[in-house]
Amino acid sequence: MMSGAGIFSGWTMTTQDQLVRLEDVYMSFGRVDVLNGVSISVTRGEIVALVGDNGAGKSTLIKIITGVHSPTSGQVVIKGEAVKMSSVQASRRRGIETVYQERALADQQEIWRNVFAGREITNRFGFMDIARQRREAEKLMRTRMGFTSRAITIESEVKGLSGGEKQGVAIARALYFEADLIILDEPTMGLSLKETEKVLNFVRGIRDQNKSVILIDHNILHVYAVADRFIVLDRGIIAGEFTRDQISRDQLVEMMVNLHQTGQMEAAPAHG
Ligand SMILES: Nc1ncnc2c1ncn2[C@@H]1O[C@H](COP(=O)(O)OP(=O)(O)OP(=O)(O)O)[C@@H](O)[C@H]1O
Ligand SMILES: [Mg+2]
Repeated sequence: MMSGAGIFSGWTMTTQDQLVRLEDVYMSFGRVDVLNGVSISVTRGEIVALVGDNGAGKSTLIKIITGVHSPTSGQVVIKGEAVKMSSVQASRRRGIETVYQERALADQQEIWRNVFAGREITNRFGFMDIARQRREAEKLMRTRMGFTSRAITIESEVKGLSGGEKQGVAIARALYFEADLIILDEPTMGLSLKETEKVLNFVRGIRDQNKSVILIDHNILHVYAVADRFIVLDRGIIAGEFTRDQISRDQLVEMMVNLHQTGQMEAAPAHG
């Protein structure tokens, strides 16, 4: 069953539902080659997990998708169009949002201000429409953030929220701005089990809206709990790509351990 663990990419997928595709992307910083010919694609409504050791190139890869870096060579194709993005704003305009742990929010500010930070709703005179922002934030909180604590309102400062709730605000914000693809780089880092469960539920919620996710997480168990597909990145190349029904959780764990210890993706024996 695991013999199909070779290198392959998303070339054969139909392009119509393809949200993002990287074609033979190389990225070097000076003389350091970080990505060495990476081709992947993300389809509408799927959760793709990007896994691999420290330094494998995961964050670099998503920074190419989000316009932080331009690839040294290769193509970024978004919704069928080859693009050269020079900024994070450019990728946002194309429906791509990134949520980072903590860094995304301003701790001293209320939830509603955080939702609209940098993208304030203005009235026809160009002034910030505070009443409308509060209304929209209220609605988002009830429908999408899934807060259960009555102690939290849109007027609560972000610093009083738990790690999972902060992730919820950041994800809700991305959804509000109609992102098609939400990228989560280690969203469960440092969170308790319970908070992690919340974040994973948010992730499932994104897919329920037929939007897509790229999830980076070192904990394979978290990743396996939500992802539809797993892409294994190893020293800048795609070492394997599996849909959920091609690999069991234990096989994936074993494979990652092997990769870490030996640098080889041993074909794990099927566990039935
Ligand atoms: N701006 C940069 N300049 C120089 N080298 C960089 C830069 N960004 C990343 N690198 C190098 O590229 C390699 C891959 O880094 P990257 O952050 O993509 O790894 P990662 O897979 O996200 O690792 P981790 O799991 O630890 O977050 C590392 O060796 C890193 O030092
Ligand atoms: Mg990283």
